Amino acid sequence: MKTLDDLDVAGKKVLLRSDLNVPLDGDRITDDGRIRASVPTINALLDKGARVIVAAHLGRPKGEPEAKYSLAPVAKRLGELLDASVTFASDTVGESAQAAVAAMPERSVVLLENVRFNAGETAKDDAARGAFADQLAALADVFVSDGFGAVHRKHASVYDIATRLPAGAGLLIQAEVTVLKKLTDDVARPYAVVLGGSKVSDKLAVIANLLEKADSILVGGGMLFTFLKAQGFEVGKSLLEEDQLDTVKGYLRRAAERGVEFVLPIDIVAATEFSASADHEVVSASAIPADRLGLDIGPESGKLFANKLSTAKTIFWNGPMGVFEMEPYAGGTRAVAQGLIDSDAFTVVGGGDSAAAVRQLGFDEASFGHISTGGGASLEYLEGKTLPGLAVLEEGN
Ligand code: 3PG
Repeated sequence: MKTLDDLDVAGKKVLLRSDLNVPLDGDRITDDGRIRASVPTINALLDKGARVIVAAHLGRPKGEPEAKYSLAPVAKRLGELLDASVTFASDTVGESAQAAVAAMPERSVVLLENVRFNAGETAKDDAARGAFADQLAALADVFVSDGFGAVHRKHASVYDIATRLPAGAGLLIQAEVTVLKKLTDDVARPYAVVLGGSKVSDKLAVIANLLEKADSILVGGGMLFTFLKAQGFEVGKSLLEEDQLDTVKGYLRRAAERGVEFVLPIDIVAATEFSASADHEVVSASAIPADRLGLDIGPESGKLFANKLSTAKTIFWNGPMGVFEMEPYAGGTRAVAQGLIDSDAFTVVGGGDSAAAVRQLGFDEASFGHISTGGGASLEYLEGKTLPGLAVLEEGN
């Protein structure tokens, strides 16, 4: 895979694919981690004398412009973080983009509007994707891929464009791959995995894969209730995926065969409704009242999880333990974050939600070994899948 060192970019226009898919509240960015993570590669390219055209997506628009998915707020934030002029093009490859690119002074950046406003970006049809990739490629001389969070997508600006221009990986992709390789090829044991997030069905392949690799799996988040139910406990009004119960029972059996320890919470913060102001109490995980729903792991579970993590040499954490955005249900996520920090293990936080959680709860990013910008991309990497956006760079162009 070529890197920035292998590409001649001086005096050239570089199309840079970044992952700037950040959470927004209206036009307020609630976590700018991915924007900040894109800055080192942009600066490196500017320092090498390139003009940088950034392509990125936001959310999942349906192939046409939608104001709520505009990258305009991201352009503003990027301008604050860079020591270079940042112009926002109000389209992807149309008149605005072409004019902005033609007028680029030295040491400048143009951010194109959301590439998913063009149906060609995500098209299943190779020709439709290729046609959009051709238009993007026409804007630049070189392609640098750095949007790690999107490399599992076979999209025009991630995959096809790399076959049309001299292409290489940026600093973020290099850093992410180096860390994730450590977890797949060369893991220091004991290897503990903490999984949270709302649904088991989103994590099926990764759990099946980790069952063959990890020494212990600690389960929190909405998905824990399907595990509790699979063990025969009632879960009240908590999130439950009935159709996954047999799969989860299969995981528990496989874990027992392999000697993998599944650690489930012993207490739960259960509320009368999904609201920060709802009446809530800590209950035993084996006795969740019928009229309550679990919204976080309880304090004893936080201690149990931290204790289990204290002996690990490697920890991978994906997914919050509870509804951390609401203070009454943030304790479990806080306890796990602190458990990672207090352990001597090499710690990796993966997944947009858990990365956002550690920052929003006020933890110092530098206290963790690595905070991945990839959600689905890091999980698919750990599953051992081929990621199109990385494979195309390996093939080289
Ligand atoms: C992410 O948020 O994980 C990436 O930006 C990819 O977004 P997507 O799941 O909408 O393709």
